[in-house]
Amino acid sequence: MTDLRSGAWLSGDDEVALNHRAALHAGGFRSGSRRPLIGIASTASDLNRCDRGLTALAAAARRGVLAAGGLPLEFPVMSLPEDLMKPTAMLYRNLLAIEVEETIRSQPLDGIVALGNCDKTVPAYLMALASADLPSVVVTGGFRPVPVLDGRPLGSGTTLWRMFDERRAGSVSDRQWAQLETCLGAGTGACNTMGTASTMAIMAEALGMTVPGSAVIQAGDPAQEALAEEAGRRVVALVGTGTRPSALLTEAGFDRAIAVLAAVGGSTNAIIHLCAVAGRRGLVLPLERFAAIAARVPVIADIAPAGAGLMPDLAAAGGVPAIQALLDDPGATARWPLRPVTDPVTSEPAFMVVRGNLAPDGAVIKTAAATPGLLRHRGPAVVFHSYAQMRERIDDPDLPVTPDSVLVLAGCGPVGAAMPEWGNMPIPAALLRQGVTDMVRVTDGRMSGTGYGTVVLHVAPESAIGGPLSRLRDGDMVTLDGPAGILSVPEGLLDGRPPVLPELADRRGWPVLHRAHVTQAPEGCDYDFLQARAPDQLPFTEPVIGRS
Ligand code: FES
Repeated sequence: MTDLRSGAWLSGDDEVALNHRAALHAGGFRSGSRRPLIGIASTASDLNRCDRGLTALAAAARRGVLAAGGLPLEFPVMSLPEDLMKPTAMLYRNLLAIEVEETIRSQPLDGIVALGNCDKTVPAYLMALASADLPSVVVTGGFRPVPVLDGRPLGSGTTLWRMFDERRAGSVSDRQWAQLETCLGAGTGACNTMGTASTMAIMAEALGMTVPGSAVIQAGDPAQEALAEEAGRRVVALVGTGTRPSALLTEAGFDRAIAVLAAVGGSTNAIIHLCAVAGRRGLVLPLERFAAIAARVPVIADIAPAGAGLMPDLAAAGGVPAIQALLDDPGATARWPLRPVTDPVTSEPAFMVVRGNLAPDGAVIKTAAATPGLLRHRGPAVVFHSYAQMRERIDDPDLPVTPDSVLVLAGCGPVGAAMPEWGNMPIPAALLRQGVTDMVRVTDGRMSGTGYGTVVLHVAPESAIGGPLSRLRDGDMVTLDGPAGILSVPEGLLDGRPPVLPELADRRGWPVLHRAHVTQAPEGCDYDFLQARAPDQLPFTEPVIGRS
């Protein structure tokens, strides 16, 4: 047993080891056993419809661990339901990562199966597992079925944002709006578009952290349980060979994952999450690296919001293995919604990165889901310094806005508001009625992976720490040149202006700790004390094993 990490807790004849063995007796541990102890973490929760199916998958993973000779020990962890959790699940991504890392660190575990699904759960796991560096396998819960309204298949998120604009333009009836609620409430599992959950499941598989072929599958598909069982067997095998996440989470591993991210036209949130995971391994992923890979690897998955299909279409076409095969062999044949790299979905790259005096540390655009004609644009700013101000003013008939205006939402960066997905602001109703469907928007917040439009996101440094957006005013001329990588205002325009800073309402609890330690978007919004800034911070330090 001494070759297992858990042996530090369980080997020996003293009162401490005896007490540890006794504590595990009810969990199935027997004295003299040399079985690896496998933690099974699950974010299943009644509060999280995306993760409800994980309970059955955890049971399947247990079976796999047992079949391979390990001892499964399941533990629930905080769930992060993107729909319900306010102000944003992003405020709690790092808390889940801490919970998982500290549970692993403090307990006699030799390997981990991590079950998650909704947007922030998988990145939180990847961050924790990168730090813990114990043999690990991630299991994701799959996407929910596609409901249909009046013959229209409904893509999670994407259709809601679109129909909200259509309703404000007067083209969606009360009946359709009410039916939409019923339709969107049907089924469990993650969003069925290339939202952040689907993207991060694909990233986990592309990084080698899942069972191959498991990331793109419908929730409830019987194959899921077999794959979860396989995950249980696999982690026991990884313990046997001593294979750890550090072997996968390398510069080359991240480059391969970013290539897949570009190929699927994935969520911009994945840029933040991958930067955070890399930071846990002491690696830095500059934004330009994402842009350079996206310039080389075209979007080949025709999936909403960048394309027309939905996740069931991608599952039928073979998921991540099929994508990787197309990237490895440009001559390979593709089946819709996948396309060969020689004939991509769009001539635009998945992402562009811009910098300039409005975003000195960078910002990103999901160009694959933007309007090409707006990627080079100059227009007067209409500035909102808070979400409340934006919602109050956006449909005000006196709002000084034209189709050429640049809508700016400041104050929603990682410090200012924990970076909610407020960035794809609704188009003002007056313009919707004129037929306007997209405008240039700029924000230090994020956008849902299911979102679309010409939105400059993650502007750094953010307004709340005095970034340039805090000094922008209505009428300032903003220049966006995506292909040239520029976001700027005339030189000197902002000089000497006092910043408008967001009100930081929380006076106690987690938000206060968050604000004190969160880094900016290009660093992944991780906490400064969780990043591996020196080699001796990898992996975590083992606890002293003695009387508790
Ligand atoms: Fe959970 Fe989209 S809301 S995956």
